[in-house]
Amino acid sequence: MAIPQEKLMELLNKDLELEYSAAIQYINHAAVMTGAAYGDIIKELKIHTNEEVQHAVILADQIDYLGGSPSVMVGKIRTSKDNTEMLQQDLEGENDAIKRYKARVEQAEELKEFALAQQLRNILATEQEHAMDLKQALGI
Ligand SMILES: [Fe+2]
Ligand SMILES: [Fe+2]
Repeated sequence: MAIPQEKLMELLNKDLELEYSAAIQYINHAAVMTGAAYGDIIKELKIHTNEEVQHAVILADQIDYLGGSPSVMVGKIRTSKDNTEMLQQDLEGENDAIKRYKARVEQAEELKEFALAQQLRNILATEQEHAMDLKQALGI
């Protein structure tokens, strides 16, 4: 059964807050990560930063279009002094995002919000690419 539109707005706002925090977390991790072996992934993390910001822009626009108020709150941000731990934190964030966006695509389609569902699918595909980059860097 479809969830109420207000509930979808609430969930999209949580997603938006987590996009803000993902962008901040990537900025931090790319800045503090050290070591020649991490040069390539540091570049990737900076690309991820910009893509998370784009996701936030898309979500804020969609929330506004659908009659909600885009949140300006920021979700939880994690960091570490250890490179591997930071990459694991980033991967956990991406895995969580993939799970949330899979659910969100279904919820949007159940409400016949097909344009929103399409945007969410594009975001989902990017999060999967982010997870792949992180797994590769972690050697898993
Ligand atoms: Fe994202
Ligand atoms: Fe991501």
